[in-house]
Amino acid sequence: MNIENKSLGDIVATYPATKLVFDKAGIDYCCGGERLLEETYKESAIEPEQLLKDLIQASERTTTEPNWMKASYRELIRHIVATHHRFIEDTIDETVDLTGKIYRVHGNHHPELREVFSTVSNLRNELKMHMIDEETAEFPAIEDYEETRSKAALEKAQSLVQKLRDDHDAAGDALRKIRELTNNYELPEDACPTYYKTLDMLRKLEDDMHTHVHLENNILFKRIMAESA
Ligand SMILES: [Fe+2]
Ligand SMILES: [Fe+2]
Repeated sequence: MNIENKSLGDIVATYPATKLVFDKAGIDYCCGGERLLEETYKESAIEPEQLLKDLIQASERTTTEPNWMKASYRELIRHIVATHHRFIEDTIDETVDLTGKIYRVHGNHHPELREVFSTVSNLRNELKMHMIDEETAEFPAIEDYEETRSKAALEKAQSLVQKLRDDHDAAGDALRKIRELTNNYELPEDACPTYYKTLDMLRKLEDDMHTHVHLENNILFKRIMAESA
């Protein structure tokens, strides 16, 4: 397998187990999924030779995940909504509340928590709006196109993609900022159990968003943009 000249998005779409390797190397495969693997060696936390070995090993691992490149649009959309939109709806309010709590209690010694709190609060609002845009406009247009092959439905679906991709970039920037502000979610020595739980939830939000944005940017949106009526 020659993966060096493949895009990151294609590698993860074809071999889902490789996403763990990219996460470990700190390489963004979801918003930056268009880039070729060889272009990302500079930012990798793992030496290129080792990275390649790890990726090849991961690509040989079997996975129970369906092949989303070949699944119907409807199946993929159902999966995104039931798994990833649901995850955000179920957890984001608690994540923001907890961040506010630790800022209130620990803000004196950890002033960076103010910006963590404001960043995750804004991100919540943006994500809620974004998911409504997807569920009420983009996803129905894609499903409509799948069912009817109508040119109007395809044009509508394609016309909304750039804005949604831009939202993903902004969310990716916010999550990166939170990771930097918390020093990779490192617990300070004076951390209480709430502090631990908050950082854990922020990390899980980032992990889930990586997979979520990958499925949309690199598979769903890429596939619909390649369609012609
Ligand atoms: Fe989404
Ligand atoms: Fe999205």
